[in-house]
Amino acid sequence: MSHTRTSLLAALTLVAGLSGTALVVGQAGAATSAVPCTVDYRIQSQWDTGFTAAVTITNNAAAKSAWSVKWSYAGNQKITNFWNSKISQNGADVTAANESYNGALASGGSVSFGFNGSYSGTNSVPATFTLDGVTCNVDSGGGTGGGSGGDTGGGTGGGTGGGGGGGDTGNRVDNPYVGAKVYVNPEWSAKAAAEPGGSRIADQPTAVWLDRIAAINGVNGGMGLRAHLDEALKQKGSGDLVVQLVIYDLPGRDCAALASNGELGPNDLDKYKSQYIDPIAAVISDPKYAGLRIATVIEPDSLPNLVTNAGGTPTTTDACVTMKSNGNYEKGVSYALDKLGAIPNVYNYIDAGHHGWLGWDSNLGPAVQEFAKVATSNGASVNDVAGFIVNTANYSPVKEPNFKITDTVNGQTVRQSKWVDWNQYVDEQSFAQAMRDKLVAAGFNSGIGMLIDTSRNGWGGSARPTGPGPQTSVDDYVNGSRIDRRIHAGNWCNQSGAGLGQRPTAAPAAGIDAYVWVKPPGESDGSSSAVSNDEGKGFDRMCDPTYGGNARNGNNPTGALPNAPLAGHWFSAQFQQLMQNAYPPLS
Ligand code: GLC
Repeated sequence: MSHTRTSLLAALTLVAGLSGTALVVGQAGAATSAVPCTVDYRIQSQWDTGFTAAVTITNNAAAKSAWSVKWSYAGNQKITNFWNSKISQNGADVTAANESYNGALASGGSVSFGFNGSYSGTNSVPATFTLDGVTCNVDSGGGTGGGSGGDTGGGTGGGTGGGGGGGDTGNRVDNPYVGAKVYVNPEWSAKAAAEPGGSRIADQPTAVWLDRIAAINGVNGGMGLRAHLDEALKQKGSGDLVVQLVIYDLPGRDCAALASNGELGPNDLDKYKSQYIDPIAAVISDPKYAGLRIATVIEPDSLPNLVTNAGGTPTTTDACVTMKSNGNYEKGVSYALDKLGAIPNVYNYIDAGHHGWLGWDSNLGPAVQEFAKVATSNGASVNDVAGFIVNTANYSPVKEPNFKITDTVNGQTVRQSKWVDWNQYVDEQSFAQAMRDKLVAAGFNSGIGMLIDTSRNGWGGSARPTGPGPQTSVDDYVNGSRIDRRIHAGNWCNQSGAGLGQRPTAAPAAGIDAYVWVKPPGESDGSSSAVSNDEGKGFDRMCDPTYGGNARNGNNPTGALPNAPLAGHWFSAQFQQLMQNAYPPLS
């Protein structure tokens, strides 16, 4: 696992690198139209005082390098925040112009953006839209269009665009964690219980990592997937139970780091499909397991790496460039989503990095586009996606209790502090909730939920600030306030000072399906010096406490604990530290 972030400079470079990749969401119905453009304006959700809407424009005229859409509201709708376009409003008149990264709009291509608004009275869909001054989509005469607005298609349904029947995902429940126990991995539990004081947490549920092909049958006599699912049936009893599986064996795995490089080479896509995903799907779809709720965490770090580390940024690595150009991360993730999503009791959660990686708008917009692309390619559909997970195996807090992104000190916003570095978020929960909105606007089902890995983001212990820092400068304020005591938010390996975070909890906040312990506490992130092994794992100096860092952590010291074993191997000293600095504390 590597966790990486991109500085403002990198983020800007990234934008430049990506301009021209608009989110193409399909061209349904546009092909033969004589209308120069069509606009699909959907109210995705609405409550008594507000609403969320998504707009998709399809350009049927010549290709454009920039665009601007205008409409007027009949009521008092007021747009409050927006994403994937720049929106301005003057009275009832609204203008939405492209962002720097989605100005290119091919002939026949589409682009989507979204926003939240307030209203009172009636929230009707605008009657007329123009694209660059030309009226769009006045095809209300056209037969079976359906929907109340006629010319704007979708109406207020929760539709997901992108082809094919309804937004329903079979007999899945909205949030699998509600009303369910979560599987306790007996192998992790035994290791935890064997540690002094470990029995305090040994009954917590943690994820099972299928981190190599051999893990399906069990490594070195350990439990394989069937053994886990059989044990899960016992733990389930007559109630409901969620089993958490991490799908983690992509070709060329961990392309921005070395510690969790895997067994498959960059071109081993066929092997990934036939020897890894297919056998997993075969086991899970055994009818005897149909009553289990199986939550899969799909390929940590892979798609975020394609967004920030695969070209045009100071954080780029050759390995990520390779994985972007051969398409095998995208094809592998699409395949996993499609194949596992076809099993009615599987809930796929795609890994979505963390706020200290994708929290800059210039990374978040492209990330959402990348997720939408992969979830609608190579056979996958948005109905294969139950949600997304943030902070997998990372250390970012759920909430920073002592400061907010909107705080200012001496007229300077906390975004200007060295720690925040122009990020739009200071913690995972605000990031996850905002990302969820953007994902829904980009076409994911409105029922998707987020998971947050809270296994190691507690930051308790004696170094935890108890209140806001001094107002002497914005840096003093943020550094004195933040519970995240890392040297830099790009540090990811065996962090010194970290503690266990929130215990696994169902539905802890709006849009959040659960706090989960995906990274099993006590398992190393990577070795602090080179260790030969047969797992494909490399030595990443981000795990070496004497290293001065790289572009992905602003060239800061790594903050890693010394004497760490290989990634995934038991690291007693880390386990003890996590218990000691737990927050909430262990009793
Ligand atoms: C790392 C390791 C992997 C292990 C996982 C959970 O990603 O590379 O082998 O299963 O952490 O500890």
